[in-house]
Amino acid sequence: MNKEHVVILGIESSCDETSAAVVMDGRNVLSCAVASQNELHEKFKGVVPEIASRAHLEKINLIIESAMAEAKIGFDRIDAVAAVNQPGLVGSLLIGFTAGKTLAWALGKPLLAVHHVHAHAYGAVLNYEMEARSAFPAVAFLVSGGHTSLFKCHDPLEMELIGSTQDDAAGEAFDKVACILGLGYPGGPLIDKLAKEGDTKAVHFPRTWLKKAPLDFSFSGLKTAVLYHVRGRDLSRPDSSHLSRQEKADIAASFQAAVIEVLVEKAILACRETGYNRLLVGGGVAANSYFRRQIAERSDREGIELIMALPKHCTDNAAMVAGLGYHQYMAERFSALDASVYSTL
Ligand code: KG4
Ligand code: ZN
Repeated sequence: MNKEHVVILGIESSCDETSAAVVMDGRNVLSCAVASQNELHEKFKGVVPEIASRAHLEKINLIIESAMAEAKIGFDRIDAVAAVNQPGLVGSLLIGFTAGKTLAWALGKPLLAVHHVHAHAYGAVLNYEMEARSAFPAVAFLVSGGHTSLFKCHDPLEMELIGSTQDDAAGEAFDKVACILGLGYPGGPLIDKLAKEGDTKAVHFPRTWLKKAPLDFSFSGLKTAVLYHVRGRDLSRPDSSHLSRQEKADIAASFQAAVIEVLVEKAILACRETGYNRLLVGGGVAANSYFRRQIAERSDREGIELIMALPKHCTDNAAMVAGLGYHQYMAERFSALDASVYSTL
């Protein structure tokens, strides 16, 4: 088994992005091809599972070919195939994981079944200048559309969940508030952009600290507060059309500040409680420009080493999958070719 300059082909298809990537030694991204399905789901304001799996099926071979071409290597140079098998939409997971199994079998190379959430938490390591393993121990913070989770990571393969959301994920709150403001889907990037024109102090929205579970999160109260603010407590206004662009920008900025303040403070608290002073941050919401600035300032003040995923590695991508797959490969954690996909954690 080759353990020098190990090359892993990663595949990601858990939700609405079809992606393939080639990564060397868990950190050196040789290529990463992503086909987004945003346009297909936009009019439904959310991901439609049947449409997602059909689109994965149409794109998967092309995306793998394009990742291989960009990496300028042949399939004979691949040491193992890493593909996400959980959690996600079952119909979507099946397409990428079956493609991964088929390639592993055809190439006679090991198959690595990768956990999507752990791969997101690993995404930041792709942006680390040192050897991948030396990014640990660390607290990993995953803030995405499906998860808001804090992990205590002794090493890349040992991620202990120490905090998570009790209701909505942070990205889900961004998407729902964008919907309330009539902005479109996915809402995170649209709120990020509009908030730049607004005042973070224009409206005071609640912050939920959950004193009994200080590392857990809750965003449903905040989402409801925005709904009442826009449509009235009795929901007498049908939508957000009575608001001016400036009023919408102020609401977006104030909402964003409320979410981000909680995210930043809890990430810092997790570092204090674990005694780890290195913080890895990934997931779609980690692409948020305000979040990136706030967490960088706060970590700096606390003397915490912050390693943030590059924006292109925050949203779903296969580079993070191949990256984590490398550590599974080195530990010889291979999967059988009859392994299954799982929808939940
Ligand atoms: O990690 P991801 O691609 O998929 C999941 O595994 O969930 O995250 C998607 C989420 C969506 O909710 C999207 O609105 C949010 O990440 N997002 C953002 C930004 N870019 C994507 N949220 C806030 N600001 C952004 N710039
Ligand atoms: Zn994701």
